[in-house]
Amino acid sequence: MMASNMSENKLFNLLSDMKHYHKTYAAYCSKTTKWQEMHKWTESAEFESNVVANLSKYFSGNMDQQIRVLGIGSGDGILEMHQLQKLTAKFLKISASVVEPSELITKYKDTVGMNPAADNITFEWYKQTFDEYLACHGSDKKYHFISVVHAVYFLGDPDVFIQKLYKLLEPGGILLVIVVTDHTGSGCIPLHKLKDDKTTNNYVNSFQVTAALEKLQIYYTQSTYTETYNITDFMTNDDSEEGELLLDFMTGTINFKKSAPDDVRDRVMHHFQQVLRIEKTDDGDEKISYEEISDILLVTRGDKAK
Ligand SMILES: C[S@@+](CC[C@H](N)C(=O)[O-])C[C@H]1O[C@@H](n2cnc3c(N)ncnc32)[C@H](O)[C@@H]1O
Repeated sequence: MMASNMSENKLFNLLSDMKHYHKTYAAYCSKTTKWQEMHKWTESAEFESNVVANLSKYFSGNMDQQIRVLGIGSGDGILEMHQLQKLTAKFLKISASVVEPSELITKYKDTVGMNPAADNITFEWYKQTFDEYLACHGSDKKYHFISVVHAVYFLGDPDVFIQKLYKLLEPGGILLVIVVTDHTGSGCIPLHKLKDDKTTNNYVNSFQVTAALEKLQIYYTQSTYTETYNITDFMTNDDSEEGELLLDFMTGTINFKKSAPDDVRDRVMHHFQQVLRIEKTDDGDEKISYEEISDILLVTRGDKAK
């Protein structure tokens, strides 16, 4: 029997190879509407009232006090820079700490260099994982706003990382966690029969994060945004390297197409066939889209918290 037909084949977890992860992430970035959707959200009344206005209340209108912001898994900083820019409209002094272990931190620095809004922000750069940051700097420095956008997948056990993040908040400070839901996108791609195999996809999803918040009796608000992936490449072109990288990103698996057993690959492709949407582009070409919903979770640290 061919190796590819054997269900016991190991599929390797994408998160175990950060070099490959970043290649797949670049493919994903060029095929998603996340950037537009996140831009809309940061410009929305929800961000203004739940983040900016609530932080202003905390400072009791004393806007020349320094506000401390922490980004974790910030990537190239495009999304965080937009959040910081919204804060600069209200706060005169901002200190931003950035925890990003990969080379993307260099791109973040470039993003900062090109944005005039950054003139009022002092940056501290930590090219480290979150745990390395905590091991070096501890939890004594507290933050008014912590932003963790699609980075909880790397932080391990939600019960543990939620406590670590909460501890870093000033009383009245706000934690933003954005994480994929369990019932769409990578949360529901049917790799579940392989769940026992620790080398396969184990992306943390919002169900696990909210369960941790509830267990710890931490109050949160929840809203959603939907992003659309253009999956035309891997649905229509067997030779597309870009398509294979996107499929790896979505399945959380290294070389999914080549290494998945036939039954698993068929099941996953069948899943895409069932939920995809076909649209015509302006040029008359066919575009195949796939939707994924993420939760936007906002936590405010209670006044009595120690
Ligand atoms: C999916 S990307 C999200 C980037 C950015 N927040 C965004 O949404 O555009 C996840 C980021 O987390 C970073 N990362 C990986 N492991 C990490 C860890 N243990 N601690 C902090 N960040 C980590 C990765 O290098 C990557 O840049």
